[in-house]
Amino acid sequence: MRLESVFGLKGRTALVTGSSRGIGAAIAEGLAGAGAHVILHGIKPGSAAAVQQKIVDNGGVAEELASDLSAPGAGRDLIDRAEAIAPIDILVINASAQINAVLPDLTPEDLAFQLAVNLGSTVDMLQSVLPRMAARKWGRVVSIGSVNQLRPKSIVSAYAATKAAQHNLIQSQARDYARDNVLLNTLAPGLIDTDRNAHRRDGDPDGWAEYTRTLNWMGRAGQPEEMVGAAIFLSSQACSFMTGESVFLTGGY
Ligand SMILES: NC(=O)c1ccc[n+]([C@@H]2O[C@H](COP(=O)([O-])OP(=O)(O)OC[C@H]3O[C@@H](n4cnc5c(N)ncnc54)[C@H](OP(=O)(O)O)[C@@H]3O)[C@@H](O)[C@H]2O)c1
Repeated sequence: MRLESVFGLKGRTALVTGSSRGIGAAIAEGLAGAGAHVILHGIKPGSAAAVQQKIVDNGGVAEELASDLSAPGAGRDLIDRAEAIAPIDILVINASAQINAVLPDLTPEDLAFQLAVNLGSTVDMLQSVLPRMAARKWGRVVSIGSVNQLRPKSIVSAYAATKAAQHNLIQSQARDYARDNVLLNTLAPGLIDTDRNAHRRDGDPDGWAEYTRTLNWMGRAGQPEEMVGAAIFLSSQACSFMTGESVFLTGGY
């Protein structure tokens, strides 16, 4: 059996939400490297331009769509616009909102915003894309969860709850679409060195070093590129007998 027939993504189109930077950008570049036509996404037009250029420079094919996924119906609209470019074989649900607050400090507005981006747009996108993938008898959904979906911290109480709910949704839909060869799994990172953590890392480098040294068994934050191999696996033929699962990439937790 050739490696290409197991992990190769030639002929597949992947939409990666929130791929203008961070984990989403690394995954989009990785999927493109495996041969997929990639549709990038960020909040504002042009936000994924640098990633698009990098993919094209490396011989890949990439387009860009923009939308704010906190808006009602934005997830459904994004799928419609992506399907107008090409049928979506692979959906990576990566964009998310994270507002740090212990429960007593959580405002209704902050809760509503995280629910809208992390859960509302996920429901929207799945409602729209899953029947289309089922009709084509091939689909992969990679939902980016978090170690917090299983081991929540108080400071991210609402965010963690949305990540747990997102995985629960992935599991119910994995069951419903398994016989259509539409497979849904969660890739759950631990702490990864991205813009999301920049304020903490850059504001207190010594505190950050101490935090990462004791956070996991490897004693360091992960890099976005370290998410790519598992993302390719979950997007490919290689995961043909796996659905409704979570893959944890945490450095040992
Ligand atoms: N970093 C970590 O330590 C960590 C740990 C566990 C799980 N995760 C998960 O991994 C995923 C990526 O995290 P990251 O650290 O790479 O994030 P990031 O660096 O903060 O980037 C977030 C991405 O999502 C997009 N985005 C944010 N809000 C959006 C909205 N309302 N509508 C549309 N797009 C939006 C951003 O677009 P713009 O560039 O246009 O703003 C950007 O592309 C998230 O699901 C996160 O929950 C991260």
